[in-house]
Amino acid sequence: MSKSLQAIRGMNDILPEQTPLWRYFEGTVARLLDNYGYKQIRMPIVEFTELFKRSIGEVTDIVEKEMYTFEDRNGDSLTLRPEGTAACVRAVLEHGITGGGQVQKLWYIGPMFRHERPQKGRYRQFHQIGLEVFNLDGPDIDAELIIMTWRLWGELGIRDAVKLELNSLGTSESRGHYREALVEYLSAHHDKLDEDSQRRLKTNPLRVLDTKNADTQAVLVDAPKMADYLDDESRAHFEGLKARLDAVGIPYVLNPKLVRGLDYYSKTVFEWVTDKLGAQGTVCAGGRYDGLVEQMGGKPTPGVGFAMGIERLVLMLETLEQIPQEIARQVDVYLCAFGEEAELAGLALAERVRDELPNLRLQVNAGAGSFKSQFKKADKSGALYALILGDDEMAQQVVGFKPLRGQGEQQSIAWDALAAHLATCVVQG
Ligand code: HAM
Repeated sequence: MSKSLQAIRGMNDILPEQTPLWRYFEGTVARLLDNYGYKQIRMPIVEFTELFKRSIGEVTDIVEKEMYTFEDRNGDSLTLRPEGTAACVRAVLEHGITGGGQVQKLWYIGPMFRHERPQKGRYRQFHQIGLEVFNLDGPDIDAELIIMTWRLWGELGIRDAVKLELNSLGTSESRGHYREALVEYLSAHHDKLDEDSQRRLKTNPLRVLDTKNADTQAVLVDAPKMADYLDDESRAHFEGLKARLDAVGIPYVLNPKLVRGLDYYSKTVFEWVTDKLGAQGTVCAGGRYDGLVEQMGGKPTPGVGFAMGIERLVLMLETLEQIPQEIARQVDVYLCAFGEEAELAGLALAERVRDELPNLRLQVNAGAGSFKSQFKKADKSGALYALILGDDEMAQQVVGFKPLRGQGEQQSIAWDALAAHLATCVVQG
């Protein structure tokens, strides 16, 4: 196939054999969020470029080199969203739904786009489930977000494989003081810093803490610590969060170097990381952004949220073999009909059964075929039972009911009794 007709590098098809696991994951998260009282919001995939520059920060990797930006036919600069927080803030402001201190607990799901170097767990189109909470400024809601994810890891069976890293970036004032101290310290060691960190020292000094360069890391050992610069309010907030995590029994690691790659954070930041996926080990990340709404033209409105990478979590379920058996089976019952008359009766019968058992996964054979070929298809479908309609069954107004997975003999069931019979032997999802 010519290259121009292939999918773009880093942008993947999710094939039918993969979608059951995606849907299981997405369904589990959606149910959990519903149960905690979060409501879904859907934002466009394309926004004005300015939105991301203003919120994520001009001197972040995302804005500097990872955005898919283009001019549309009106000459407007548009960008495929690299994340969801900016658009969510725009949406709540535009619709006035956080005005007057209204609390909003929102979640979203969908594709995000970043022009990063593709590798396992890192793609150019990837998918996030994210959530944002507005107008709650206490550590209780930060804790709720983390508790919820902890529950999710438990439900998914991956709790032992993830670790929570936690830090506080303080209020903008305390961060300002810290930034000054850090710049002073790093400037005194300027020559020992790698090139990228020298540049960041001028543009975004906190990001130097995030460096992978060993020499710069060595310089950082004695650098001033954010924890020593937290003001009383930030300190109390952080203590409040830790006390709540302790109360629920959620383990965490304090990581003073955790600064995040987006500029809008204040106070709490956190990441759930795993060592099961290689280099791309952060499966869920977020924090508080109390200044962002105001920065984007709204009234001061506290905010906090996180996003999880669906590809990474699906990979984890596969790697840890935490795939529930029942999701592999997508068909409960497969109806085979032989001859035109049986086909017509079969269609009508299938609809009657579906009326009574709306959750039954009933597949009706299409494309006719011999007894052998229909049976082969029934078996391949993964169904538990085959229903058989041939001349004999037609004459007696019954259907052959044949277990396909070795649970007993074939029997005849009257058409009128079929739905009731199926209800007793198929657990419906
Ligand atoms: P982020 O850390 O940039 O934060 O992304 C969140 C998660 O998305 C990451 O932890 C990772 O699981 C996944 N992810 C990011 N980039 C990629 C990629 N190239 N390929 C695959 N997965 C990826 C945010 O996006 C913030 N908006 C989170 C947030 C919400 N903070 C507050 N509210």
